Amino acid sequence: MTGPLTHPALAAADPELAGLVTAEERLQAETLRLIPSENYVSAAVLEASGTVLQNKYSEGYAGRRYYEGQQVVDRVERLATDRAKALFGVDHANVQPYSGSPANLAVYLAFARPGDTVMGMALPMGGHLTHGWGVSATGTWFRGVQYGVRRDTGLVDFDEVRDLALKERPKVIFCGGTALPRTIDFPAFAEIAREAGAVLVADIAHIAGLVAGGAHPSPVPHVDVVSTTTHKTLRGPRGAMLMCRGEHAGAIDRAVFPGLQGGPHNQTTAAIAVALHEASRSSFRDYAHQVVANARALAAALLDRGFDLVSGGTDNHLVLIDLTGRGVPGKAAAKALDRAGIVVNHNTVPYDPRKPFDPSGIRVGTPSLTSRGLGTEHMAAVAEWIDRGVTAAHGGDEDALAAIRAEVADLMARHPAPGIPA
Ligand SMILES: Cc1ncc(COP(=O)(O)O)c(C=O)c1O
Repeated sequence: MTGPLTHPALAAADPELAGLVTAEERLQAETLRLIPSENYVSAAVLEASGTVLQNKYSEGYAGRRYYEGQQVVDRVERLATDRAKALFGVDHANVQPYSGSPANLAVYLAFARPGDTVMGMALPMGGHLTHGWGVSATGTWFRGVQYGVRRDTGLVDFDEVRDLALKERPKVIFCGGTALPRTIDFPAFAEIAREAGAVLVADIAHIAGLVAGGAHPSPVPHVDVVSTTTHKTLRGPRGAMLMCRGEHAGAIDRAVFPGLQGGPHNQTTAAIAVALHEASRSSFRDYAHQVVANARALAAALLDRGFDLVSGGTDNHLVLIDLTGRGVPGKAAAKALDRAGIVVNHNTVPYDPRKPFDPSGIRVGTPSLTSRGLGTEHMAAVAEWIDRGVTAAHGGDEDALAAIRAEVADLMARHPAPGIPA
């Protein structure tokens, strides 16, 4: 039992919860986790996020707090912000946003007023809820106008983006998204934002680790603000950062605190600092490039097996599979693959005729498997498992799913997950 050994105080105080943590460790160790927004943090990041920094209130910013006793916390936060600035080459970094959604809300608070027009990619096209989509506060409190991708190529149509921006004159334009398999053209967005007089925000939540590792072009210096989560390809704790040009530093800081949040989560700030330190190493550059090489190899193997991929492939860490031709909806496929030990999420594909809760696609990515040391040589097997799993989903073949699960567990046992005791 790893739980009682690994978490002795927890096991003694609350065996029920300790058992659940152990069960989650086993689940993450034994399954092939392909959700592109997930990862395995290092043992160091895990340790940092579970420290006594948890006990401290520190509203405000380093040197300007509303509580005393900040001798250490100020140093932790400065370390994190300095590392963020160095890694991403930005003038200013704020490491306090609780997560990606509040970070994006802070951006609107900084640059727009309720009712103003804001612009982002539509959710069903690969954008994020917080880019002005209707059901989100960002599409309710602001007037969200949305661009998409072309039906024939699956790529952003910059003529459409320019026409929309010049017609609607948004205060803020978001680029980036949550299901985009292709390189984001930051200079093209910057030109349009300049013409439209809008503040341009790059939401690099998904690709932050690729940017840090030089495996995706940087949005710096093209955009005004960079928003990112820290827990996806960047391999940090669940949290977020806002980075910007010096001229916007005051507006961003005021929007995060006191505009939107109270006390920062100092234990998360510490873990972000560790993750940024790890991301500055040459081994992380290798990791970032391997994530992309693995995704490209996986896409090629899926294409060989006749899968239909949105935009025909990938430039980054994720592949969006349209299962329409396989006769299995995305949700049924995702649930069957879960029974086969392969964890994916169902996802809308551009122009999806199906509803978001039961769409046509699944989204798969390589950040987690790359953290376990899997390479391009393993991607044919991953594609084969996905193929067999989708076929089994179609035929209701539970034995086939169980067989895949055993093969997956075997490979996973040979590639221990970082941060999880063997
Ligand atoms: C592009 C993008 N922005 C923002 C977020 C929101 O992050 P969080 O879930 O931490 O609120 C996500 C989450 O998936 C995302 O993909």
